[in-house]
Amino acid sequence: MTDTVLFDMDGVLIDSEPVSIRILMDWFLLKGVRLTMKDVEPYLGAGEEVFFTGPARDKGLDVDLSEASSYFKEHYPSLMAASLDDCAKALSSAVVRHLRKVGFKVAVCSSAPHWKVLANIRVIGLDEDDFDMVLSGEEVVNNKPDGEIYRKAAKRLGSEPASCLVVEDSRAGIMAGLDAGMKVLGIAGTGDVSTLCSWGACAASEDIGILLGGSTMEQTVDILDRQGDDTRLFGANMIRVRRPDAPAADIQEMIEAAKRTREHAYTPYSHFKVGACVRSAATGRIYTGCNVENSSYGATICAERNALLHAIAEEGTIGVDALVVVSDDDPPAPPCAMCLQVLAEFTAPDTPVILSSLKGDVHRYVFSDLLPRPFIFPSQRK
Ligand code: THU
Repeated sequence: MTDTVLFDMDGVLIDSEPVSIRILMDWFLLKGVRLTMKDVEPYLGAGEEVFFTGPARDKGLDVDLSEASSYFKEHYPSLMAASLDDCAKALSSAVVRHLRKVGFKVAVCSSAPHWKVLANIRVIGLDEDDFDMVLSGEEVVNNKPDGEIYRKAAKRLGSEPASCLVVEDSRAGIMAGLDAGMKVLGIAGTGDVSTLCSWGACAASEDIGILLGGSTMEQTVDILDRQGDDTRLFGANMIRVRRPDAPAADIQEMIEAAKRTREHAYTPYSHFKVGACVRSAATGRIYTGCNVENSSYGATICAERNALLHAIAEEGTIGVDALVVVSDDDPPAPPCAMCLQVLAEFTAPDTPVILSSLKGDVHRYVFSDLLPRPFIFPSQRK
């Protein structure tokens, strides 16, 4: 059972990015250069050094890194203390104290330099002693997404990786937790809850308040498990997707949408028009596609792959929780084997596949009826 909670710092226990950006911009102003967010954005989250040297190089400014770093250190603690609202401080300190009180071992594992981690701990009204351990970026060779910092923390705390819960907000951080063999709770910020799950978090929440819900260790773990039940796994990479909060489009709506898009099929060679519609498991939204043929016949793209790629282009990695294919055939045509293989990357064996003819003859299957044994890399076979 989970007995150890390992927190990332920035974006989880404290939101320090606006302050860091402000200090950077002030320092550049002192050097006569006005930076905009566009100048800063490429260097966010990439470590302290490039935070200064990146924009400096772009602006043709020579930086004395140690001078920049002292300026940053001098202004960070007071600006941070003034900028963070009292509620955010109270929530972070309450969560850390509560988890320790109910019996968890609690650590911070941040890629930031040690002085900054300590300054942040003070800003939220805590002390180093309020944690069982504080690990910073200087104590590891490999930064996140490598799992070194989390492996190190577990080892020093005498905890098994499987009994550790990592709390992270970024993709690199989630990857680091998974790399260390740990479960990850995602905190919304850089990604929304569905995105965090698709990055591999076993559960995701708007804020860390979810960790206050249990009055014992068991209850806390139970709340997180139930939160995790809200997600489903799709495809070869076990993409984790949270069920949509909004109502999902229904099958009839999908058939109508596929029929409409079928009209756009480009079929000068086969004259066989197909329309397809996939539904995203995360949002309940639907995306359509039609077949588009080519003089070089093999370059033809089928309606099903077109719909799937349309969905990914709009939402990023998705789980498909329903597929509809409409053709003027009797019985209605199933997806070809190539489309099924591509779809297998994003569907679950029980994803419904509905085949409809133009006249309205509807046949219902689940994905595994049509492709029971998709090709999956040996390393990913469960
Ligand atoms: N086609 C599809 O759109 N989906 C399938 O699963 C099978 C075939 C299209 C491709 C081509 O334009 C036409 O049907 C004849 O092969």
